[in-house]
Amino acid sequence: MSFLELSHVDKGFGPAADRYEVLDDVNLSIDRNEFVAVIGFSGSGKSTLVSLLAGLLQPDAGEVRMNGEVVTEPGPERGVVFQNYSLLPWLTVASNVELAVKQVFPEMSRTERREHVQHFVDLVSLSGAEHKRPHELSGGMRQRVSLARTLSMRPDLLLLDEPLSALDALTRATLQDELVRLWLEDRRTVVMITNDVDEAVLLADRIVPLTPGPNATLGPDFVVDLERPRDRTTLNYDPAFVRLRNRITNYLVDVNAESRQLRVDRAVQLPDVVPADLTTV
Ligand SMILES: Nc1ncnc2c1ncn2[C@@H]1O[C@H](COP(=O)(O)OP(=O)(O)OP(=O)(O)O)[C@@H](O)[C@H]1O
Ligand SMILES: [Mg+2]
Repeated sequence: MSFLELSHVDKGFGPAADRYEVLDDVNLSIDRNEFVAVIGFSGSGKSTLVSLLAGLLQPDAGEVRMNGEVVTEPGPERGVVFQNYSLLPWLTVASNVELAVKQVFPEMSRTERREHVQHFVDLVSLSGAEHKRPHELSGGMRQRVSLARTLSMRPDLLLLDEPLSALDALTRATLQDELVRLWLEDRRTVVMITNDVDEAVLLADRIVPLTPGPNATLGPDFVVDLERPRDRTTLNYDPAFVRLRNRITNYLVDVNAESRQLRVDRAVQLPDVVPADLTTV
C-alpha cells in the first residue's frame, strides 16, 4: 500500500437536487517522500482536492488514506500552505510560526520553541523580519512565513495549494529554488498544486493533471525523470525537458478543448424533431 491513497473519491457541493459535482472518481497513489505536482485549470477543484487530503473536507464517496488510515479530520501530520497565505494579521512573523509550534509540540520548553521557530524563519530566509506583521511584508515574504509555519510543524505530508501563483516571476523563481532545496535537504511527501507546467517539471517527480470541471478527474501520470538538482537555466535547453513540457501542455490543451466541446453540446440540446418537407405541401 502506498503512503497516500485516494480511491474513487467523489466530491460535490450544494443540495442533492442541484448538486455541483466538482470531483468525480479521483484515484491517486503517492509514495512516501515523493513530490507530486497536480496541475489543473482554474476552478477545476484543486483546492477541494487539497482540503480532502488535509481532512478539512470529507468525500461524498470513496476514501482518502494516509499510512493505511482513513483521513477523517485535519491533523498536524498533514500541513497545508494555503493559496492566500492565511496568516494572523495581528501577530508578528515569529508569533505566527510560534503559534503553530505551540499547538503541535506543547511539550517544548519556551527556549526550545524559540530556537525551533528561529530555525524555520532562517530556513525560509526571513531572518531580520521576525518582528514584522503581515501587512509590513511583501507577498513573497508572506508566503515564506506561511511555508515556515507549516514546515515548523514537521508534517509527514506537505500540501501546497498554489503557494507561488500570486507572486511575480522573479520571486516565484527564487521561492521555487528554495522549496526544492528544502525538500532535497529534508525529504517528505509533497503534493503541490500549480497551474504552471514549467514549475511542475522543475520541482516534481511526477505530474498529475486534473481535468477541467465539473466532474473533474485526474488524467494520466507524467513522470519527470530529469536528474536533480535541476538547473532552471540549463533545463530550457534540455531536449528531455522540452519534450516533456510539450507533452503536458498538449495534453492540457486537448483536454480543455474536449471539455469545452462537451459543455457546448450539453448547453445546446436541440429538439429531437424532423423538419416538415415543405416542397410536398
Ligand atoms: N464550500 C463550497 N461550497 C460550494 N461550492 C464550492 C465550495 N468550495 C468550492 N466550491 C466550488 O467548487 C469548484 C471548485 O473549487 P476549487 O476552489 O476547488 O477550485 P480550484 O481549482 O482550487 O480554483 P482556483 O483555480 O480558483 O484556485 C468551484 O466551482 C467552486 O465554486
Ligand atoms: Mg484553488
